[in-house]
Amino acid sequence: VPAPHRVQNRQVQDPALTQVIEGFADGSTEFFNTPDTDPDLAQNRTWGREILGKMEASPLGKDLVKANTINAAGELDEAIAMGVDASGDWQALGSAKRAEILHRAGLLFEERRAMLLEVLGSECGKTIDQGDVEISEAIDFAHYYSQLGRELDEVDGAKYVPSKLTVVTPPWNFPMAIPAGSTLSALAAGSAVIIKPATQAARVGSMMVQCLWDAGVPKDVLQLVFVGDRSLGQQLVSDERVDRLILTGGYETAQLFRSFRKDLPLLAETSGKNAIIVTPHADLDLAARDVVQSAFGHAGQKCSAASLVVLVGSVADSRRFNNQLIDAVKSLKVGYPWNPESQMGPLIGEPGEKLKRGLTILGDGERWAIEPKQLDDSGKLYSPGVRYGVQRGSEYHLTEYFGPILGVMTAQSLEEAVQIVNEVDYGLTSGLHSLDRGEMAYWLDNIQAGNVYVNRGITGAIVQRQPFGGWKKSAIGAGTKAGGPNYLIGMGSWVDAPVKD
Ligand code: ALA
Repeated sequence: VPAPHRVQNRQVQDPALTQVIEGFADGSTEFFNTPDTDPDLAQNRTWGREILGKMEASPLGKDLVKANTINAAGELDEAIAMGVDASGDWQALGSAKRAEILHRAGLLFEERRAMLLEVLGSECGKTIDQGDVEISEAIDFAHYYSQLGRELDEVDGAKYVPSKLTVVTPPWNFPMAIPAGSTLSALAAGSAVIIKPATQAARVGSMMVQCLWDAGVPKDVLQLVFVGDRSLGQQLVSDERVDRLILTGGYETAQLFRSFRKDLPLLAETSGKNAIIVTPHADLDLAARDVVQSAFGHAGQKCSAASLVVLVGSVADSRRFNNQLIDAVKSLKVGYPWNPESQMGPLIGEPGEKLKRGLTILGDGERWAIEPKQLDDSGKLYSPGVRYGVQRGSEYHLTEYFGPILGVMTAQSLEEAVQIVNEVDYGLTSGLHSLDRGEMAYWLDNIQAGNVYVNRGITGAIVQRQPFGGWKKSAIGAGTKAGGPNYLIGMGSWVDAPVKD
């Protein structure tokens, strides 16, 4: 088995790599993560420029959205009934056959990487580098869950019974990887799926589903649904025939869904207010880079993004660190993703009330080191902002804004920094920058977050290596992390097999 490739020429399908990946299907190759596109290769830059040329005016996916929009309660009712009906055959097909089909979907994601990047930029404002890692993650989900799921039928002494019908309501910020992960795991387990992609990412979600259909998932087993109005959305998530609902979105949305149906079998990854702690034992250059990437990738609109950095002791006064941080943020090129110079793209839409406050209002003791600015009339393009002097217990400290703003806090000690981070209600991702083993151990023992990273950025969890999921108000139905083995198993339950004489 070759080492995971880090280099790939996207213009030429590498036959050796394809052959190795095909081994995932029958288990002859051990799973490894799909390589991202290497921008250092001239061929890949040419390939990327071709995508950028088509991005702004791309029509991809529009027809699929139109064809799968439901406007009447009766149609939705039929879709749900059809999903429940189809689940029996899908389960009976057996886990090995299902795995083969889903594995093929991963190969199609790879084959269509350029088209998917085009629509990720066109519809959701993702720059090529941000979209590229997302497609790799979706491919990883396909191969990982199909490989894991292949043997579900063969476990001795117990029978695996999947949910019949799973409804997936994914977010717009990882519009390819997150819906792919939820859908693929449910399908691998043997459940039928109805997916309702986020409206802002309808075309990306539709193209993901088309890959699954083309791979061989029947259209009644996987249904793509857009709803014409909110009451239909409510009907979909509260129907008693739905026996699992996978939501990735805000904490308030999860509460709203629960208010529709009290016994909702919800598996939700919700909000976050994530922080990176930097101690005097850190590699400060690395820390500055990772903070900037974690805070401003995809304009800060990742649930995993860093919204706070807590500087411990002398780091707070370190001219070197603070100047580097501010210079790096100022140097970020903000623009639409089809402009090859852009490093940070637009927001998904005009900021709502909460984000507007975050972009404009300073709390007591706060000051802008870099004030965010609206850059054009679209209402979506903002330059990044950095505020210093964020106070413990303040609005900025405790609120999730979901945008390109970073708040800087200070602490006398690592212990105090950990208390500051743990005071927020959420616990999704968290980071420590320190080269001291004692500090690492203390932090790991005490920090309250689902995904914890030492000396690395806090976004971009890698399938299998860093299963992704939250703690506290960042998760509902916790214990099953996406990209890890329990997530797949959680799509159903084990029952004892009948005792044989
Ligand atoms: N899984 C995504 C990340 O880790 C949300 O950034």
